[in-house]
Amino acid sequence: MIMKRDYESRIQKLLSRMTIEEKIGQLQQCGPSLVGAFDVSFEELLNMMFDGRISQEEFGRLMSTAEQDYHEEDLRAGRIGSYNGVGDAATANRLQKIAVEETRLGIPLLFGYDVIHGFRTVMPIPLAESCAWEPELWEKTGRIAAKEATAAGIHMTFAPMVDVARDARWGRISEGAGEDVLLNGAYGAAKVRGFQSDDLSRENAMAACVKHFAAYGAGEAGRDYNRVDMSLQRLWEEYLPPYKACVDAGARAVMPAFNDINGLPCSVNRWLLRDILREKWGFNGMVISDANAIAECVNHGIAADRKEAARQAILAGMDMDMTSNSYIECLQELVESGEVPEYVLDEAAGDVLRLKFELGLFDHPYRTTADREQNTLLRPEYRAVAREAAIKSTVLLKNDNNILPLKRETRVALFGALAADKGQMTGAWAVGAKAEDCVSMVEAFAARGLCWRYCGPDADEAALQAAAETSDVLVAAVGEMKEESGEAASRADITVNAEQMTLIRKLASTGKPVIVVLFNGRPLAIPELHELAAAVVEAWHPGVEAGNAILDILCGDVNPSGKLTATFPAATGQCPMYYAHINTGRPGGKSKFTSKYLDAPIEPLYPFGYGLSYTTYAYTGRKVEKREDGIHVFVSVTNTGGRDGEEIVQCYIQQMTGRRVRPVRQLKDFTKISLKAGETKMVTFVIPYAGLSYYDWEMKEVPGEGIVKIYVGGDSQAELAGQAAL
Ligand code: NOJ
Repeated sequence: MIMKRDYESRIQKLLSRMTIEEKIGQLQQCGPSLVGAFDVSFEELLNMMFDGRISQEEFGRLMSTAEQDYHEEDLRAGRIGSYNGVGDAATANRLQKIAVEETRLGIPLLFGYDVIHGFRTVMPIPLAESCAWEPELWEKTGRIAAKEATAAGIHMTFAPMVDVARDARWGRISEGAGEDVLLNGAYGAAKVRGFQSDDLSRENAMAACVKHFAAYGAGEAGRDYNRVDMSLQRLWEEYLPPYKACVDAGARAVMPAFNDINGLPCSVNRWLLRDILREKWGFNGMVISDANAIAECVNHGIAADRKEAARQAILAGMDMDMTSNSYIECLQELVESGEVPEYVLDEAAGDVLRLKFELGLFDHPYRTTADREQNTLLRPEYRAVAREAAIKSTVLLKNDNNILPLKRETRVALFGALAADKGQMTGAWAVGAKAEDCVSMVEAFAARGLCWRYCGPDADEAALQAAAETSDVLVAAVGEMKEESGEAASRADITVNAEQMTLIRKLASTGKPVIVVLFNGRPLAIPELHELAAAVVEAWHPGVEAGNAILDILCGDVNPSGKLTATFPAATGQCPMYYAHINTGRPGGKSKFTSKYLDAPIEPLYPFGYGLSYTTYAYTGRKVEKREDGIHVFVSVTNTGGRDGEEIVQCYIQQMTGRRVRPVRQLKDFTKISLKAGETKMVTFVIPYAGLSYYDWEMKEVPGEGIVKIYVGGDSQAELAGQAAL
């Protein structure tokens, strides 16, 4: 738990010396504008990269060559409290010096940045890393991200994202821990601990900004930024708990979501930002808008103009305005006219100052040096963790006849552009990444001295046939480009594209076993690929150590242990698809009048929690006992195969009746155990009774009652362990 110090009297003293304009200045986060070839903001440039108007390489080039306008006159005048998108020590220190030495009150700046899955040492994308089901790992990679980012002058990251995401069409499913409530909470809390450490004033601690509050992952039809319309019961049971877990873990900042909930945009939602976050959950950190989100309330149609949007936002509890200039341009008038009471402005500025005090910025405004930056980025020990994380994130989806691991003498032909594309390995949101840092599959194969050849995307039919004929197995690297997931990257068809499927079909038609390695940022609907392949390895976007980690798995140096944290549908039309659904009155079945599709199965292609290993596990002795502190669940897990391994043991419940319908399964606990070949371990879970409560029709929290079934096993289709009558 994070160490808390009391800065209230210092905050009040400082506020009493500040003019209205200076207070408003503290609420202004600005991004550098680029001057030169492009006269656009950093935000717009990011957008251009994400929607494919420019490549990541072009983005990098522009960022390094274009002159940046940091609005230094505004800074000197005390009209800027924070920057977004400054990610190098020299610039951060230069701007900080202006703030400290040249503004009237010398209040230090706060630097925020999107450090989503590592800074320079890019780790697997969050959806991938969640498949490790390992809070210690999540914390460790978060710690490394903080060490690197703070060395580059960053004080706060816009992460973790804990938006429960059940619609694989939504591109941002890649940025969180998948579809489950409990997992998102555990993942988010671990990241908060990793980013912040136990003392935010340390030079290598970085404030966590939890996002996107709330329910951003539930946008209609999986379309980014889209409306969210859901019952309050569902919001409280399925969407809010992960944000609360992060607040409880001590997260010092929160970012409201772009979307509206039941007609009210989160940016101006007082109920969310004051009643729930501050009053009910006791949060006293800083609330910062998403980029331009306050101004976008005009587009939502909730405010007639930016001034009205600014008024609504600050009254609702939004402290800082990210790059929309609504506060800096409109708040002064609103305060002077009395439409926004000055104490509301004081509270908002106080929240910003508190975070700056907690980060130790008043005592040590320069938390880094160019030397520290140079000595910290991409250290070999960080790369080692990136490799460990990528290995643990990998999910073995299919492995017919134990075709994997490859034997040393196996002759391999490697196909697919993604096998050689270093820059694609980082996935979405890797702003501090460099393509040259990444190890591709081709490089990793070359380094191993195996018998292999690469047949690149330009190879003609004859070359492909020749490669196939002279090889024992065909490995195809296919999936999504990193631009196909992340922000503003929803897809209406989540299959592997036609060109890549043609390649897979061709390879399969040779009769040689095809091993598919998937690079992607979301679950894919790939039933045909599944049929054609002998093995499927889900590598996601694995980060800088991609090739090495994949080869570790393909060659059997390590045993895969990852398990899916998001359901893979069999068809896009099944989306949203998730394991914790309710039953309906006519659960899908054989007869016509049941809840199903005419042209697609109701089962997923790969269920939540699923993942294979090079060994096998047997679950025996499942038992359930009601005790005073909760339901105790016992199971013995034996490694029945020939290799040591790690198994993720999962415990689900089903409340058979309730005052409102209950999900058919809910994950209640999990653990990862290592088992030597032949070894057996006993696992115990305790499900506290309090964890069974839910909301009735009147929104009263009611305790669980009636029969509860408990399932324990290696995925969400785990077998019944027993039941308890409450
Ligand atoms: C927009 C995204 O929604 C948010 O997640 C991100 O942190 C901000 N832009 C800042 O780049």
